[in-house]
Amino acid sequence: MAKIAPSVLGADFSRLAEEIRSADNSGVDLIHLDIMDGHFVPNISFGPAVVKTIDRLTDKFLDVHLMLSQPEKYFEPFIKAGADSITFHIEVHPDPVKYARQLREMGVGPGISLNPDADVASVLPYLEHFDLLLVMSVFPGFGGQAFIESALETVAAARGHIDKHGLNTQIAIDGGIDGDNAARVVAGGADILVMGSAFFGSADKKALTEKVQGL
Ligand code: DX5
Ligand code: ZN
Repeated sequence: MAKIAPSVLGADFSRLAEEIRSADNSGVDLIHLDIMDGHFVPNISFGPAVVKTIDRLTDKFLDVHLMLSQPEKYFEPFIKAGADSITFHIEVHPDPVKYARQLREMGVGPGISLNPDADVASVLPYLEHFDLLLVMSVFPGFGGQAFIESALETVAAARGHIDKHGLNTQIAIDGGIDGDNAARVVAGGADILVMGSAFFGSADKKALTEKVQGL
């Protein structure tokens, strides 16, 4: 059974409350929140105030994805805003264990992410410290991009490592996921599908949610 995590970046912000409630009512597993600083990625999204607003609208698990050059500076404000897990990128902290421990001490689940051009070997030694591995299947910064197939090789390598060592780390995949490639991605070893434009653009979010959860 796979999990679905709608990415709010794909929502219509003029109807944010309605969009969050419709995701919630569809039975999604988590809500994915993309935070961008205009430095690590070439775009700026939203900050803790919006996360806090979303936290008031739903009891769902808030999975915060920090696409920031200095993520550790913002752990506290996002945790205070309601984050349940915080994911940062291996590209900015190639030795990430200290930050994983810090996040756990602060009461949230640590996650680590890697871009599509990163070597999976850069994260494997650290997975035992993380609840989540977020494999990027687009270059982060924007929703609505095409799925990069080579991400499946990263998922497969991570799946092999996690299973071999009996780790609890879940694998999420983020970017270009839709109802068509969902089955392939889950068969490839992903536990959680992050879905932005395909989820919020769907005419039947509940059916899409049930389809993913049935995989
Ligand atoms: C990309 C973000 C993704 C994005 C996914 O920078 O990390 O979470 O919102 O959007 P779609 O599903 O439209 O590719
Ligand atoms: Zn994301």
